Amino acid sequence: MRFAKNIYQGLSKVSLVTLVVALLGSILLVAARQPDDSFQRNKPEGLIQLAQDVDLALLAKLKKEGKPLFSSNCAPCHGEQAEGGDGPKLVGNDYLVSLGAVVVQIMKGDYEHGMPAFEDSFNDREIAAVATFIRNSWNNEYGIVTPERVARFRGL
Ligand code: HEC
Repeated sequence: MRFAKNIYQGLSKVSLVTLVVALLGSILLVAARQPDDSFQRNKPEGLIQLAQDVDLALLAKLKKEGKPLFSSNCAPCHGEQAEGGDGPKLVGNDYLVSLGAVVVQIMKGDYEHGMPAFEDSFNDREIAAVATFIRNSWNNEYGIVTPERVARFRGL
């Protein structure tokens, strides 16, 4: 009996420690989480609510700038409604989830499969605009790509 009780107490101590460690772990994880690409960029210190508005405005602006760029440079292969053609469709395309993959695809193209590189003909803002446009049109909701983010992919 005594032995059993000791085991029981030992166990509950262990589970308490496990619980505390798990709790601290999750708090740390939440705290260390990388800021979300969609809404955390360029935020003025301490104005989180306002920052979302600012970034939504930027998203809308970039999208607007990206539309004509898409029509003249991408639509011939991907379709005006991104329904696909010589290039894959971009509607609901999981590839677009990855900001980095999209930016690099636009910059470097894909020589082997026939997509031209745009890193020389587009500046950072134009790449950001067309990337934001394709990630947030036709019911796509993959979030903003800022020119600052694009700049970091240059020279990689
Ligand atoms: C000459 C045709 C052509 C043009 C122009 C073109 N693409 Fe592509 N694109 C392709 C092809 C082909 C692929 C598939 C490459 C592969 O299979 O690796 C592709 C792939 C992509 C992908 C990755 C999607 C996936 O599922 O692999 C994205 C994103 C993309 N293109 C965006 C663009 C944007 C934005 C533009 C304009 C700035 C553009 N493309 C212009 C032909 C083109």
